[in-house]
Amino acid sequence: MFIEILEFGALTKKTEFGAKFGSSPLFEHHTTSVVFVDPPDHTRIRKIFQQAFTPKAILGLEKDIAKLVDSYLVMMQEKKTFDFVSDFSFRLPVDVVCSVLGIPSEDRNLIRDWAHKILGALEPKLTPKQLDEGSAAVLNFKQYLKDQINFRKTHKDINKSNEILSLLIEAEGLELSETELLHQCIFMLNAGHETSTNMLSHGLNELINHRDQYRLLQKEPERIDTAIDEILRFQPPIQINNRRCLETTMLGDVTIQKGTPVHMIIAGANRDPLQFFEPETFDISRSPNRHLSFGLGIHICAGINLARLEAKVAFLRLMLSFKDINLSKKPKIANRIRFREIKEMQVEVSSF
Ligand code: HEM
Repeated sequence: MFIEILEFGALTKKTEFGAKFGSSPLFEHHTTSVVFVDPPDHTRIRKIFQQAFTPKAILGLEKDIAKLVDSYLVMMQEKKTFDFVSDFSFRLPVDVVCSVLGIPSEDRNLIRDWAHKILGALEPKLTPKQLDEGSAAVLNFKQYLKDQINFRKTHKDINKSNEILSLLIEAEGLELSETELLHQCIFMLNAGHETSTNMLSHGLNELINHRDQYRLLQKEPERIDTAIDEILRFQPPIQINNRRCLETTMLGDVTIQKGTPVHMIIAGANRDPLQFFEPETFDISRSPNRHLSFGLGIHICAGINLARLEAKVAFLRLMLSFKDINLSKKPKIANRIRFREIKEMQVEVSSF
């Protein structure tokens, strides 16, 4: 029975993406990356890179993350007015995820552009232009990674045991095919920056819009952990998760038939008044805070510890380095549904 259910799940994902992406490179990517495969493949793939994401491995990155943040802060002190997205919230996650994977961060703009096109193709409606651009992005990204991987294979001395690329290369041929290897790398680079970028942009925006909470965090930085959860609850970077109902199920008084596609609106669940007291209030001290921004179940985000660490280092340093950060223009929110993106956020900083 268990096997039957899993096979049903795998079949429908391919059916669903087949209808959307045809036989394009986007189909290959989205049906191979860890987030869209079912056990036993999911278990096998997730186990390989899990070691790079243990709390101990992530804690070892704190100094490097702090160094990166400090380098952006120097630039921000000099500029005074700048776009927070391009100068900070995009740079940090992409620099960090490139370093965790073992990819040169100078290529961050290429990666950002490809990620945008590949993940953009997951929006509920897709134009032919988006399909073409997304497919071209998958092909270019694959070629780029093949070159990186070949370089590593011929320069074995640069492989490091804690870098994901090294772990994946080691597993290639044994537990992972070449196609699987390439698509896990693409997914990791995409998943690891777009979401964290939006957590940082929205987080700062909400703190600016709720000045009492901003001041509270400045005065009592020990509230940082609950503040991060509240930012994630209030502005989840991913708004929708999708599943297919594998068995006819009752939810409240609604019957969901086996086979029904289910769209879980994370943003709605995070403001459920039965779960959260005054859900429309942004309260950095909120506890407990059982938001769903990292998902749940076997596909729960593998990068939780990394995302939290980035947020912790970034917000503490921002709050304590500047007396004030203000918006100099209204932030530009992207016209997307699945990803909650701030495209541009002009801010002005003033020193103590
Ligand atoms: C604030 C930042 C982040 C948010 C809000 C977020 C959110 C999510 C969500 C909701 C899922 C589950 C998708 C589903 O069930 O369909 C997910 C999966 C995943 N995330 Fe994240 N993520 C973040 C950062 C990261 C980072 C930094 C990395 C790694 C560098 C990462 C790697 C992954 C991976 C590998 C999966 C797939 C896990 C699996 O299928 O087993 N994420 N993320």
